[in-house]
Amino acid sequence: MDMGWVNEVYEKILSKEKKVVERNRNKIPYTTNDGVFDDRGGREICWWTNGFWGGMLWQLYHATHDPLYLEVAIENEVKLDANLMNRQGMDHDSGFKWMPTAVAHYHVTGDKAARNRALLAADNLASRFNPVGKFIRAWNNWDGNEDGSFAGRAIIDCMMNLPLLYWAGAELHDPRFVHIAKMHADTAMQHFIREDGSAKHIIEFDAQTGEYLHSVGGQGYAHGSSWTRGQAWAIYGFVLSYIHTKETRYLETSMKVADYFISCIPESKLIPVDFRQPEKPAYEDSTAAAIAACGMLEIAKYAPDDRKEIYQDTAIELIKTIADKRCNWDETIDNLVEKCTAAYHDPDHEFSIIYGDYYFIEAIWKLMDKELFIW
Ligand code: GLY
Repeated sequence: MDMGWVNEVYEKILSKEKKVVERNRNKIPYTTNDGVFDDRGGREICWWTNGFWGGMLWQLYHATHDPLYLEVAIENEVKLDANLMNRQGMDHDSGFKWMPTAVAHYHVTGDKAARNRALLAADNLASRFNPVGKFIRAWNNWDGNEDGSFAGRAIIDCMMNLPLLYWAGAELHDPRFVHIAKMHADTAMQHFIREDGSAKHIIEFDAQTGEYLHSVGGQGYAHGSSWTRGQAWAIYGFVLSYIHTKETRYLETSMKVADYFISCIPESKLIPVDFRQPEKPAYEDSTAAAIAACGMLEIAKYAPDDRKEIYQDTAIELIKTIADKRCNWDETIDNLVEKCTAAYHDPDHEFSIIYGDYYFIEAIWKLMDKELFIW
C-alpha cells in the first residue's frame, strides 16, 4: 500500500494546528461554532472531554518540540485542578482527563506537580470500585442528587480509563490499582461483550449485592443496538489492558470486538453512529472510526501473524477515508475532523468534536512512528 499520503497528512496537520493553537491558546475546546472553537473548559471545567486538547498539544509538542505547545498544554492541565477539587465533577472519566494532560506531562518532563495531579485522579478513580460487583461506577448522579440511583451503573467507555490505574500501580509499586483495573476489565468481558462480538453500552448492577440486573440503552440507537463509539472504546480499551497486563484474554476480547466491527464497516468506510441504526435518519460518527483505527493499529502489533494485516489494513482504510473525506484542511477553520456525533438521539448530529481531532492525530502519529504513547 502506498503510504505517501500519510506524510502529506502529517505535514498538513502540523501546518494547520500551529495556527489553530496560536489563536485558541486560552480555551479548552469541545466543538466549533461557525468554524471557531468554543471554550468548554471556561464554562464546564469538569466536562469529560477536557483532556483531549491537552492530548493534542502533547502529541504536537512530541513531534515538533515547539515550546508553544508545551506552554499551552501546561496551562490546560493547571485549569483542570478546579475539577480535581470538585468531588461532584470527579467521575470515572479521570483517565480521559488526566492521562492526556498530567500523565503525558510527567512522561515528557518528569514534573512532580503533574505526577501528583495524576495520582490524585487515580486514587479517586480507584475509590469508585464496587468490590462486591467488581466494577467501577461510571457516573455520579446528575445534579449532585445522591439518591444512589447511578451507584450500580458501569459503561463500556470506562475501559479507556483503566490505563490511569495501570500507570498509578506501576508508578507507586502498589498492585491494588492493577487489581481493580483487572477486576473491572474481567467484569466488562463477562457482561458487556455479546456472543457476536458487539459491546453493550451501559449496564446496571445491584450496587448492594453486585448482581447483574440489565443493560440500558445509551448513546446509540436503542437498547440492544450497537453504538459504534462504544465498540471502538471496547476495541481500544481491551487491547490497552492487554498491553499493560499481558493477559491474553484481553487481547482476544479486543480482537473479537474488532472482528465484529470490521464485519459491519460499510463500503464507503464512513462509520455510522450505530451499526443497527435505521436507514433513516442515519447519522455518521467519524470519532468511532478514528478510535477504532487507533485500537486496531495496536492490535496489529500483538495479534497472531496471520491476523495482523487485517487490523493494520482496516485501520489504514478508516484513517485514509477520514483524511480524504472528513477532514477540513482550511487553516482558518479550527476543527480538523467533521461529522462527529455525541449520541444518536441528541438534537444535533455530525459536527466537530475535539476527540475526533485527537484520535485522528494519534492514528496519524502511530502510522508515522511519531506518537507519544499516552494510554
Ligand atoms: N465517553 C462518552 C462518549 O464516548 O461519548
